[in-house]
Amino acid sequence: MEKLRYVLFCVVLSLCTCDAYKILVVFANPNPSHGILGDNMVKHLLSAGHEVTYITPYIETLKNKTKAHLVDVGNTHKILEVAKDILDLKQILEGTVESPDFKLMFELVSTIGDMTLSNPNVQKLLRDPKQKFDVIIAEFMFNELFSTFSAVYQCPYIWFSTIEPNWIALHLVSDPMNPAYNSDYLHGRIPPFSFKERVEELWTQIKGLYHYNFNFYNAEEAIYQKHVVPILKEQGKPVPDYNVLKYNASLMLGNTNVAIGNAMPLPPSYKHIGGYHIDEEVKSLPEDLKKIMDNANNGVIYFSMGSNLKSKELPDELKNGLLEVFGGLQQTVLWKFEENLPNKPKNVHIVQWAPQQSILAHHNLKLFVTHGGLLSLTEAVHFGVPLIVIPVFADQFLNANQAKNKGIAERVDLSYNLDKNLKVALDKVLGNFSKYSARAKEVSAAYHDNPMRPGVALNFWVEHVVRTRGAPHLRSVALQVPLYQQAYLDLLAVILAVAVVILLAVRKIISLLTVKNMKLKKN
Ligand SMILES: *[C@@H]1O[C@H](CO)[C@@H](O)[C@H](O)[C@H]1NC(C)=O
Ligand SMILES: *[C@@H]1O[C@H](CO)[C@@H](O)[C@H](O)[C@H]1NC(C)=O
Ligand SMILES: *[C@@H]1O[C@H](CO)[C@@H](O)[C@H](O)[C@H]1NC(C)=O
Repeated sequence: MEKLRYVLFCVVLSLCTCDAYKILVVFANPNPSHGILGDNMVKHLLSAGHEVTYITPYIETLKNKTKAHLVDVGNTHKILEVAKDILDLKQILEGTVESPDFKLMFELVSTIGDMTLSNPNVQKLLRDPKQKFDVIIAEFMFNELFSTFSAVYQCPYIWFSTIEPNWIALHLVSDPMNPAYNSDYLHGRIPPFSFKERVEELWTQIKGLYHYNFNFYNAEEAIYQKHVVPILKEQGKPVPDYNVLKYNASLMLGNTNVAIGNAMPLPPSYKHIGGYHIDEEVKSLPEDLKKIMDNANNGVIYFSMGSNLKSKELPDELKNGLLEVFGGLQQTVLWKFEENLPNKPKNVHIVQWAPQQSILAHHNLKLFVTHGGLLSLTEAVHFGVPLIVIPVFADQFLNANQAKNKGIAERVDLSYNLDKNLKVALDKVLGNFSKYSARAKEVSAAYHDNPMRPGVALNFWVEHVVRTRGAPHLRSVALQVPLYQQAYLDLLAVILAVAVVILLAVRKIISLLTVKNMKLKKN
């Protein structure tokens, strides 16, 4: 009896020492794929036994389905009214969209930050004196406003970056990345760069850093002063400088895996956890889809542009052109699209809802035609599937170029000739399928060959930050060195000054000598 009690005591003790932490997770961006990333991050943290409070605009789908405490920021959906011009398919097809400039992007993301911090639900959370957190994880969306949560809860915070490592994100935890071989994510270039490209990349960073450090900084600071500083004062907490807070992250978790992106030098505080959103166990397909895929003797091509290619914006001739191209293929085509099209060829199936991971996992799946969002690209690599990428916006061009560069994809651009160009790409990939397929399997093997699965790595690094009180040992020393010193602009100034002094001295000596000469001649 005594022994049993001892055993029970030990069991209880071991349960208590499994270090459950209180974690605040902030994903305010009203974009479905960001919602997927947030939901799955919360799922992993909960399954490790942590207590999670989750700020999200997608509360409806989670209600009664999660143990997390949900904080609703559904008001951020309003930003989509402002942003709708950015994703105008007609303009994209005509090739008349200009890539969004810094200022517009910044206005959008800082408005989302403002909407989040001023949201009554968030204000209530911030003002609640009983709320305590061990660590905060916030999605980095090109503004640093969510770093201010850490001043209220006086705990470490972690950035989560949704796209490939880029200078805007990285300069917060180390230095801006070397523009000689790191492209801006909107340019999407693959090194090596030409002279002109290198200069353009440098200029983009100089211009961007100027905006971030001066114009945007003041706008963000004002939002911090308005919505967070009064709370700090009320609660008698110190009011840190915004400039200190924004560079004080303990870690940056990246939705990336080096096998998918470019191998670039990264600071010790950057950790790859890309692929954590993919279920460990593949869910079985619904009966009708399973039958279609099982019976596809020549393989299946899965075509999904996510929500990027809305049927009401796609011209009829292009819809018919695509059907004609697909009809000419031997393979079965699964097209995820919102409307069922008339006159479909026999081998084409249109589905409104598609369990993408289960489709990609099917043994008959040959090829994935996608917009190239990083989630879709990661899923394709996870399951070793070659791709044709039709990038539409943001980082999709970069993803397309990287996948092509790795030999696992071809890229096709969105235009009124999409059907014809897609046919050329399909012929190219299917005509040499074993080459693309073998590369896809190779890249997939490298992606999977890691000491920790991404979901495990996510929990490990978050817990590491709490255990080591903010992981100061991972903090890049580059943050202590101002940019002008990193670029040796001070040395350049000294050299220029010395050169000027020497020049002046030489001129003086020459003029003295010539004056003397003239005097001598006169005499
Ligand atoms: C969630 O649970 C609450 C009570 O626990 C209930 O009132 C509510 O109807 C449920 N909502 C949904 C969407 O099931
Ligand atoms: C297939 O790939 C090989 C090697 O890259 C190339 O030589 C050949 O031309 C390709 N064939 C087709 C049909 O594209
Ligand atoms: C910066 O982060 C460290 C480690 O988490 C923490 O100890 C420190 O208080 C933070 N500084 C500010 C101003 O928040």
